[in-house]
Amino acid sequence: MTETELAESTMTETELAESTRNTAALERPAASLVPTLAGHWYTDPAIFAAEQERIVEAGWVCVALAADLDAPGAYRTVQVGRESVVVVKGRDRAIRAFFNVCRHRGAQLCVEPAGQVRNKLQCPYHAWTYDLTGKLIAAPNLTEMPDVDRVVNGLAAVAVREWLGYVWVCVAPEPPSFEDEVIGAVVTRLGDVESIDHYGVENLRLARRISYDVRSNWKLIVENFMECYHCATIHPELTEVLPEFADGYAAQYYVGHGAEFGAAVEGFTVDGSAGHARIPTLDDAQDRKYFAITIRPGVFVNLVPDHVIVHRMTPVAADRTLVECDWLFLPEVVESGADVDRSVELFHRVNSQDFAACERTQPAMSSRVYANGGNLVPSEHHIAEFHHWVRARLSPPR
Ligand code: FES
Ligand SMILES: [Fe+2]
Repeated sequence: MTETELAESTMTETELAESTRNTAALERPAASLVPTLAGHWYTDPAIFAAEQERIVEAGWVCVALAADLDAPGAYRTVQVGRESVVVVKGRDRAIRAFFNVCRHRGAQLCVEPAGQVRNKLQCPYHAWTYDLTGKLIAAPNLTEMPDVDRVVNGLAAVAVREWLGYVWVCVAPEPPSFEDEVIGAVVTRLGDVESIDHYGVENLRLARRISYDVRSNWKLIVENFMECYHCATIHPELTEVLPEFADGYAAQYYVGHGAEFGAAVEGFTVDGSAGHARIPTLDDAQDRKYFAITIRPGVFVNLVPDHVIVHRMTPVAADRTLVECDWLFLPEVVESGADVDRSVELFHRVNSQDFAACERTQPAMSSRVYANGGNLVPSEHHIAEFHHWVRARLSPPR
């Protein structure tokens, strides 16, 4: 996008400075209402393409649960912005990621979302064959082409990290610091990294996964997750469990703050009944509390005493986002076949309520009434910092 397009797209610099200032300090701002992004930021394919390139493809994206790749040869095909990526477990049990592009003439190696190979990835077009480290190991007539370097012509690697039991990839040639971008987001929210370490997320097991196909722009979903002004209106079950949410102040509003369970609430379940065994490594201060973390652009982590809920978003169009939500419990809870329905039902309802609200909002983004955007109330002012973050990433220079 050109600078002019960007300038026309959104708040003026003065408005932005104002909203950012309001966000930085949590004291009462000069004005109650701070502008949102203009409507076309949620509908314009050019902005969506710029976000794919300069946000999704430029940063770390959480693409799979490491346990989804359990055996050597297990792979997942995932979309990272405009790039298709294959994530595969090697014979050495290391997880690697490659661009899903055959180095011969570009056919996609894997088209299934997940699968299992023995020890190689073979292109179905002319049968160029790669081992699980990406090296070219066979091709028709390859012995007649001794000058072909098997590493140079091997699969193009994508940067990989494992954290919280998840596989994170970055398709950028020079990935930004994982510590700053991903772990830093958690530290900014919780105050330190030990607070999340206590949940031992990497030791938890997947008990349930629900996928949502949301007809809204990904930013509406992030903004919704960041605020709780809507909690009293659309989340009756959640506000029953976390009464302070009825006041409209999200747990994310304050560094290190967790929302406390109501006095009569026994667990983070749809009816407040008891949940499951508490994660034993938690601090007492983390008991009976809910913490929410946004790791931009597309991960939400929700921490409660007996389980962890992880949302991963994949923007697919300006008005469509896929969300995969995992519920993770202690291994003994999952292995015992304990009934986790009431736990899962609480956040599944929250998700359904939130996504319905986002879908209700999306059509109005193209209304002439919303051409200059809407308003953030004081308990939403911190969302302006997210808008600033998006704008800064899309603004030249690269
Ligand atoms: S395109 Fe893959 S082998 Fe030819
Ligand atoms: Fe919500």
